[in-house]
Amino acid sequence: MAENRSGFSSSFGAIMAAAGSAIGLGNIWRFPYICGKYGGGAAIIVYLLFVFLIGMVLLMSELVIGRRTGHTPMRAYEELRPKHRNWRYVGLLGLITSFLILCIYFVISGWTLNYFWESVSGTLASIADGDFATHFAAFASSPVAPVVCLVIFAALTLVIILGGVQNGIEKVSKILMPILLVLVVLLCVRSLTLPGASKGLAYLFSPDFSQLTTEGVLAILGQALFSLSVGMGVMIVYGSYIPKGDGLFKSAMWITVCDTAIAILAGVAIFPAVFAFDQSPDGGPGLVFNVLPVVFNSMGNVGSIVFGGAFFLLLAVAALTSAISLLEALTAWGADYGKSRKRSAIILSVVLVLVAVVASFSFDGGILNDNKLAGISFFDWLDKLTGSYLPPICALLTIIFFGWFMKKDDIHDELSNHGVLKISWFKVFYHILVRFVAPAALIVSLVAGIFT
Ligand code: PHE
Repeated sequence: MAENRSGFSSSFGAIMAAAGSAIGLGNIWRFPYICGKYGGGAAIIVYLLFVFLIGMVLLMSELVIGRRTGHTPMRAYEELRPKHRNWRYVGLLGLITSFLILCIYFVISGWTLNYFWESVSGTLASIADGDFATHFAAFASSPVAPVVCLVIFAALTLVIILGGVQNGIEKVSKILMPILLVLVVLLCVRSLTLPGASKGLAYLFSPDFSQLTTEGVLAILGQALFSLSVGMGVMIVYGSYIPKGDGLFKSAMWITVCDTAIAILAGVAIFPAVFAFDQSPDGGPGLVFNVLPVVFNSMGNVGSIVFGGAFFLLLAVAALTSAISLLEALTAWGADYGKSRKRSAIILSVVLVLVAVVASFSFDGGILNDNKLAGISFFDWLDKLTGSYLPPICALLTIIFFGWFMKKDDIHDELSNHGVLKISWFKVFYHILVRFVAPAALIVSLVAGIFT
């Protein structure tokens, strides 16, 4: 264990911080949409299977690697396999992935800040229903406003990281996560009490197995991994901060349950309202910036300000705690190699903002949108790489390392807290899920992803 390295001070703080990482934009704008599109309840059943049998297994493996070594990914791999130093490149790939995700996150989170402001200041309330798509396109492609917003968001993230692991990340997560829960419950209550809400619930929950296509199953698996923030090594870093006495199974279970619960609540907050106002269900930026503002406006001026404001605040909070974990993973990496945390965090933020600005300029209609590589803009490249390819590749390599190269006794020792906890499930976990089920599922999804 590295000396003088601070970690989370309590189990609750550790779970809030890790759940904060897991609960992000993906829970709110992708999960409900994927469920609705691929068979409602049928998709939810598959999601639950994936998230608990594969996602949580990966989450536990990252937490074990992190807490066992007390290091960030590259050094953790080196320490666990000193004679096979090439494994550290898996750690490096994870960090590169985190960097790229954070660039996209900065851009999109900036948009949510802008929409939060436009909701509470009444600007959105004055826009006609048919004009939201144009409004969003004009905003996102402009060279100034999105940049100002992303710089503000990046600065917020940086300030929290500069506060440190306990006084920054842990403290802020303990405050923000309950706020997030209150916001999502408030929006659920509003949505469920609208006339016609039941159509949205049916869309989200009633099972239709005929919609559950191969493409759908793959999208659900990708979402389960992305949603738990696994594959990039972020959870290795957070694992290294978890107090030694905590049971890692219990921590992983709490993180997974919180993440899944918020995703389902987000669906309940969104789709009944979307259907109640006769809008068509969608996912991603289209849902958040074009469809939902129409829904909030239909609730009248006050509705638009209060519920629109609450919704965009919810998105910004969810995005912030995820961004914090990504910046922390990168900052801690520098610190693990003896660099000052403060300097690393500042330099990284500057570089991240510069790349994010280029990404923002290359978004549809932006000043760099015409500069394409293989017909794809820089923004879309980032989105593609971080959404579909890099996380499953990193996740596969991580689980192969964990199941086939790390010492089984070390894993048992860490999960049982040196024999203190009874872990009767270990055999099934290790010999079936870790070594076979999780790698097989990831290989199938990668191969299918390449060939379809
Ligand atoms: N889990 C986050 C989401 O659902 C995304 C994320 C991925 C955050 C990786 C941190 C690390 O949006």
